[in-house]
Amino acid sequence: MSYRVGVIIGSIASKSINRRLASSFSRLAPESLKLEEIPIQDLPFYSYDYDDDYPPVAREFKAAIVRSDALIFVTPEYNRSIPGVLKNAIDWGSRPYGQNAFAGKPATVIGTSPGAIGTACAQQHLRNILSYLDTHLMGQPETYIQFKPGLVDDSGEITVESTAAFLRDWLEAFEAHIRRILGR
Ligand SMILES: Cc1cc2nc3c(=O)[nH]c(=O)nc-3n(C[C@H](O)[C@H](O)[C@H](O)COP(=O)(O)O)c2cc1C
Repeated sequence: MSYRVGVIIGSIASKSINRRLASSFSRLAPESLKLEEIPIQDLPFYSYDYDDDYPPVAREFKAAIVRSDALIFVTPEYNRSIPGVLKNAIDWGSRPYGQNAFAGKPATVIGTSPGAIGTACAQQHLRNILSYLDTHLMGQPETYIQFKPGLVDDSGEITVESTAAFLRDWLEAFEAHIRRILGR
């Protein structure tokens, strides 16, 4: 059995450390997880004025969520919460009313910041949103990653073995979570 896992990265910064962290996931994940980024950078600002006629980029964003068996959210922490670009993307995926693409999806959250709290505040806000949107959130392990220069090299390899092992365990736990929720 293999699972299609959409990866939503909540930063559009060219040197995003969260994107860099996410570049390590494929080689650490069990083979059964097929990871694929769901891009958010071209989405316009959401307004319910679009609800009757979503633009193609937003249709594709929603379709990619629907196609995914499960979702990984990689969030930076901006001002003790999630970045606006991530909230904007989630709003697009949640609407029009009654057509929430996130409902029922197994999901997990992770994030990295240079500070020691490693996006803990942002992740708590994100968990709140994703619970409201009826995802099946994995509770443990929590993953607060402090980013230090060189943690992920240019090829996407984690250079600190204890962090690599921790991320491997997290991805294995997520695979088990997906199997439990989907029952296949
Ligand atoms: C607007 C803004 C607000 C920030 N607020 C926080 C914060 O509340 N907590 C924190 O740990 N880091 C904060 N930072 C620092 C980010 O963790 C850091 O810029 C990190 O590189 C962001 O992730 P990214 O590179 O993937 O976008 C903030 C950065 C910006 C630009």
